[in-house]
Amino acid sequence: MTVLEAIQKSTEFLAKKGVESPRLQTELLLAHLLKMPRMKLYLNFDRVLVPTEIDSLRELIKRRGQREPLQHIVGSTSFCGHEIIVSRAALIPRPETELLAELGWKFLVTRHSSLVTALDFGTGTGCIAIALAAKCPNAKITALDVSAEALALAKQNAAQNQVAERIEFLHGDGFAAFQSEGRVPRVPNQNDGDEVGDSQRSSLREFDLLISNPPYIASAEIETLDPEVKDFDPRGALDGGADGLDFYRRLAAEAKPFLKPDGKIMLEFGDGQADAIKLIFENEKWIVEAVQDDYSQRARIITASLNG
Ligand SMILES: C[S@@+](CC[C@H](N)C(=O)[O-])C[C@H]1O[C@@H](n2cnc3c(N)ncnc32)[C@H](O)[C@@H]1O
Repeated sequence: MTVLEAIQKSTEFLAKKGVESPRLQTELLLAHLLKMPRMKLYLNFDRVLVPTEIDSLRELIKRRGQREPLQHIVGSTSFCGHEIIVSRAALIPRPETELLAELGWKFLVTRHSSLVTALDFGTGTGCIAIALAAKCPNAKITALDVSAEALALAKQNAAQNQVAERIEFLHGDGFAAFQSEGRVPRVPNQNDGDEVGDSQRSSLREFDLLISNPPYIASAEIETLDPEVKDFDPRGALDGGADGLDFYRRLAAEAKPFLKPDGKIMLEFGDGQADAIKLIFENEKWIVEAVQDDYSQRARIITASLNG
């Protein structure tokens, strides 16, 4: 069987199994197997595959036909130019989230301070934390997750991308993780900011940036998602509660004491959630500075601050 014949046969098989973009998926798997860039396949259409290659390809295509995500089969994905190892322990990083990370590092580099700090709330594979640390050499990132398995993967990814020494990993359920570490922020009061000096204030409030792509799928919707998502991404990375907005309520209510007074919070959210999330933050007295679109012109990222 030639490369071209293998592509045609496998594409047909994946199409029957309901896989989206079956030809592209086939080419990516074959390129992975043959250890060549996908485009090079086109120069090798007439190459005859040896029996072991055919067996291996059959195995890869079978897994993809069972709707295992391509990234799990090849073991990694690219995020902001970094290779990120993926597994069932954490959500596969999505291209939209690269936009969030980019907004984050663009904000951090404007801070002109010898040390800038960010909290990646729900770090998963560590992709956002790693991108921030790599783009901002003076940044120290705290990567928080409730899943110990995800944190172990994030640590592995940070080490592989040579930024582990600037990322602190914190295990726990949201901001409660700081309490178990004995790092309790000052609870803001009505006169907040008035009687506390700048140096004191910044030592009490840790972060320049709080960034997160929290779980935002409504619980009942999870079953309607593609098998690649509902059967392979961890449920804890998807489930945002009855209306998908639980984490935004939590963040709007609990994040303030963790931000520096001129810090920002930047959050990804799902398509159609912009108005509800804006309202949640405004009701908690945040100043919503921007709502930004993804590559398909759908509102997907909110930026808010305490003082505008
Ligand atoms: C949608 S995933 C995002 C992962 C990664 N930041 C990304 O963008 O690809 C959400 C992450 O939040 C974590 N998470 C869920 N509930 C949490 C909680 N209560 N406290 C901290 N992290 C939580 C999940 O384990 C998961 O890794």
